[in-house]
Amino acid sequence: MVKICCIGAGYVGGPTMAVIALKCPSVEVAVVDISEARIKAWNSDQLPIYEPGLEEVVKQCRGKNLFFSSSVEKHVSEADIIFVSVNTPTKTRGLGAGKAADLTYWESAARMIADVSKSDKIVVEKSTVPVKTAEAIEKILTHNSKGISFQILSNPEFLAEGTAIQDLLSPDRVLIGGRETPGGSKAIKALKDVYAQWVPEDRIITANLWSAELSKLAANAFLAQRISSVNAMSALCEATGADVSQVSHAIGKDTRIGPKFLNSSVGFGGSCFQKDILNLVYICECNGLIEVANYWKQVVKVNDYQKSRFVNRVVSSMFNTVSGKKIAILGFAFKKDTGDTRETPAIDVCKGLLGDKAKLSIYDPQVTKDQIERDLSMSKFEWDHPVQLQPTVPAAGEQIWDVSADAYEAVKDAHGLCILTEWNEFRKLDYQKIFNSMQKPAFVFDGRNVVDAAKLREIGFIVYSIGKPLDPWLKDMPAVVA
Ligand code: NAI
Repeated sequence: MVKICCIGAGYVGGPTMAVIALKCPSVEVAVVDISEARIKAWNSDQLPIYEPGLEEVVKQCRGKNLFFSSSVEKHVSEADIIFVSVNTPTKTRGLGAGKAADLTYWESAARMIADVSKSDKIVVEKSTVPVKTAEAIEKILTHNSKGISFQILSNPEFLAEGTAIQDLLSPDRVLIGGRETPGGSKAIKALKDVYAQWVPEDRIITANLWSAELSKLAANAFLAQRISSVNAMSALCEATGADVSQVSHAIGKDTRIGPKFLNSSVGFGGSCFQKDILNLVYICECNGLIEVANYWKQVVKVNDYQKSRFVNRVVSSMFNTVSGKKIAILGFAFKKDTGDTRETPAIDVCKGLLGDKAKLSIYDPQVTKDQIERDLSMSKFEWDHPVQLQPTVPAAGEQIWDVSADAYEAVKDAHGLCILTEWNEFRKLDYQKIFNSMQKPAFVFDGRNVVDAAKLREIGFIVYSIGKPLDPWLKDMPAVVA
């Protein structure tokens, strides 16, 4: 029986290994983590992350060929294939701070593998890492290996949160990079055999290590670039009377462009896009490619611009001040169908509004009050793409934001509501009831273009939809300069 161990039971490690266990009954999969709390949650009825379909898969395999454990060293030493799926956040201090990937967790995992291994291993980079990380990892492993052979593979993960299980069950492609040596080819084949249990052969792509590592950064940069491109267009649409949805539809019909990832919004979030682009920027700078670095940096800058533009629109529409006004925030997660709030645009938007002394009432179906509290009290890095929004930590005892049990409670007596996540339930709300319970004039700022603006205007709302022709009210309000 092949034994797989995955180090890191997070958004990637958990779902990825659950699907491998489901599709490969003859493989024993152990997911290990230094966080005891996370492992405890994986072994409970309340999984640590929310993903549609995840619970069913975990329940089907857990205890059979899928195990969650904090006995990291034991499972690593027993495994044939070790996936490393630890977090690789942006460095906050030292050389490359604010851009480079922090490989502390990765390095400590690699050292531990070297320490505890007693048999040959295939070590798989699942985390997103800078190009050439495999070389560094190889050095750590071989310098401590006591004659054991390690093969390093790069197998970046392309799943998207919110659709992780579907993406894993039916991936567009699986990418495996390895050394172009007999040992490297053998390792690639061993990993290919695992995926081939359910992924068609023509979707399993092999490449050299550096291409595989770079492909993941490139894929995220291209995806984020599409969002920033359409968001840049949304600003021009508002200025000219064009409708960004119509523009997206028209350009998406071009088969060279395609229709996906062309929705305008308040901005992209999630733990990956910004981090991976900044990492790419840093790698370009380190290679002396300043023009290339600046090109990709602009994708992050436009994203920051989109968030501050949204805040400015809210403030300018409401007579240039939101001080003391209640504003409902519908949605805090960075996208629908996940409870993940890492880098969510809601953090910057809320901080921007709090900076103008608004009182916020926040509702998200999957995000807890504790999580929101942590996010709002965290200070943002002041690296070289500063957001215009000031971080605002609520003063002790001054309750300027709260969490509501549902959307209707959040909007009660509010002057405005901001939709920041595209949860399906926000499309189906009773907006007449909402209008009746709000202060007048009642404003809707739709950061995800989920509501039917025409219908809401009939009810009496003043509606701002990103990239759409402006409500006459908004046209008349002077623009705010940040
Ligand atoms: P995460 O933060 O949810 O999970 C990482 C886990 O690794 C944590 O539970 C942490 O306790 C554990 N860990 C850290 N060091 C450890 C060690 N030495 N030994 C054992 N456990 C350790 O991170 P997430 O979101 O799963 O991301 C993991 C990697 O996958 C990152 O490099 C990320 O860029 C990449 N990725 C993330 C995607 C996403 O949608 N979240 C998609 C594709 C790639």
